[in-house]
Amino acid sequence: MKTSVTLTPKDIFKLVEDELQEVELALKTEGYSAFPLVDDINTYLHDGGGKRFRPALLLLSSKLGGFEGKPAIVLSVVVELIHVATLVHDDIIDNAGVRRGRPSVNATWGNQVTVLMGDWLYMTSFYLALKLKNFRVLNLLIDVTRKMVEGELIQWEQSGRIDLSVEEQLEICRRKTAHLFSGCGRLGAILADMDEQQEEKLGTFGHSIGMAFQLTDDLLDYTSNEDTLGKPVLKDLEEGKITLPIIYLMERADQKEQDFVRDVVRTQDFSSANKKRIMELVQAYGTLKEVQSLAEEYARKAKTTLLDFPDSIYREALLNFTDFVIDREN
Ligand code: IPE
Ligand code: IPE
Ligand code: MG
Ligand code: MG
Repeated sequence: MKTSVTLTPKDIFKLVEDELQEVELALKTEGYSAFPLVDDINTYLHDGGGKRFRPALLLLSSKLGGFEGKPAIVLSVVVELIHVATLVHDDIIDNAGVRRGRPSVNATWGNQVTVLMGDWLYMTSFYLALKLKNFRVLNLLIDVTRKMVEGELIQWEQSGRIDLSVEEQLEICRRKTAHLFSGCGRLGAILADMDEQQEEKLGTFGHSIGMAFQLTDDLLDYTSNEDTLGKPVLKDLEEGKITLPIIYLMERADQKEQDFVRDVVRTQDFSSANKKRIMELVQAYGTLKEVQSLAEEYARKAKTTLLDFPDSIYREALLNFTDFVIDREN
């Protein structure tokens, strides 16, 4: 589907610039704790930045329905805090040393402190959400968060399983990422008091771009570099994550090549020669392109869900946001 206006990522973020500034401020102030350790880690996390895709999606969705106001800021902070809490816990699970271009919280403060900080961030998020006194909103947030945690658990359980199916991997993507994106679209619709169908559509929109987003993240692990991405690359396989580039490769490669990949995963021998060979294989079999195509398919699906909304700058922004999610470099 062609969009009538082409908005750059900068144009899109400009439309919610004022709100995002308030979100930044609130992330800092709401993360304040009289307990210095919590405050230090929160400041560290805040200084590390982040793309703020989820708040942007929520704000644009609410503006699509004509909503302006403080609750949109509050809920943007809420979804960002849930996201940050999952990242903080995810880095412990993955034993990741770098996040957003800096040492991760676990690398700096250790796992014990970091797990508690993640808990604190989740609870701070729900404490803020509670202020809106809206059970529908709370129900949605709890549902999404439970699914995300389940996604991380499923991923842990499936870790290193080289025979993981495409469907099993897509289910992990749904739970880890797509449900929260879907929630952002729905929350925008709820704020704007849209009807059930429109809320469903924005939910589907968010879900589809969430899938495109996670598939792109899985792709960037194979195609990017640490400086651009802000986190180490070629790590997923090492962390036992059998993502689509490898699943597709196992479907296409000959027996000898399959045995090689299986052995690398089984023995955990991630020497640079082995990594280089795996890169050669995913390129030779075009599996990276295949994942890219699937991400594009989700992006296209996302766009079709916006067809019934009246034309507006916010609809254009959401349509263009979809392209940005899959074309991004970090
Ligand atoms: C990283 O999310 C985790 C995934 C869901 C892939 P982001 O790429 O949105 O991380 P930040 O917030 O910009 O650092
Ligand atoms: C995203 O998954 C983590 C959650 C959404 C819980 P990843 O494991 O792919 O995230 P990165 O690659 O570490 O940022
Ligand atoms: Mg990780
Ligand atoms: Mg990743």
